[in-house]
Amino acid sequence: MDAREMKIKAAAAALAHVEHGMRLGIGTGSTAEEFVRLLAEKVADGFKVEGVPTSERTARLCVELGVPLKSLDELPELDLTIDGADEVDSALGLIKGGGGALLREKIVAATSGRMIVIADESKLVDTLGAFPLPIEVNMFGLVSTRIAIEKTAARLGLSGELTLRQSGDGNFTTDGGHYIIDASFGRIPDAEALSTQLNAIPGVVEHGLFLNMAALAIIAGPAGARELRATR
Ligand code: A5P
Repeated sequence: MDAREMKIKAAAAALAHVEHGMRLGIGTGSTAEEFVRLLAEKVADGFKVEGVPTSERTARLCVELGVPLKSLDELPELDLTIDGADEVDSALGLIKGGGGALLREKIVAATSGRMIVIADESKLVDTLGAFPLPIEVNMFGLVSTRIAIEKTAARLGLSGELTLRQSGDGNFTTDGGHYIIDASFGRIPDAEALSTQLNAIPGVVEHGLFLNMAALAIIAGPAGARELRATR
């Protein structure tokens, strides 16, 4: 089974949790896109959902495939969000934002009664941090914010390259009009502390640590999809 087949398996298993009439947060990334494709087939057969997309990219795919969308202001409280992740630990702590949609993903997940993460087994880790942590920052004061991130990380014993994400000829810009700094910490033993302290930096808009948000992870491997629940 190749990586795409595993993503489809996870997406299909997640679809079984979606009920007729649900208000659904729809994630971003290649795994979430497999979910959108499967959801669209069900919608074409008469299944009713209202989706709130977590990115312009996801919105475009939903429109193309006929998945009905609403804005988050029209549907400010959601039943369920299905989204991918860049890393998943055993407590269902996540690193997200590899696709640059972390801010909308976090806002949508936070207003959802439940969040289900879908991923192939390559995303499972013992400790978060091998995947560079995406940190969304305001364009204003970029250098100061970067220094503040470095100092915050150092206080927690973390170091590593902070890379301003690029796209084409320039800096990558998020749907919200911000930049992303990818922080290569390697290992983040105290993700809670890092999360709290990054959020205290004024120029940090949001970061890709999603802690205590996912209720369930559906992880697909060659033998099929299995469900993981948080161990703490
Ligand atoms: C998007 O910003 C991310 O949070 C994605 O959910 C994450 O990068 C997973 O993407 P893939 O499913 O493409 O690995």
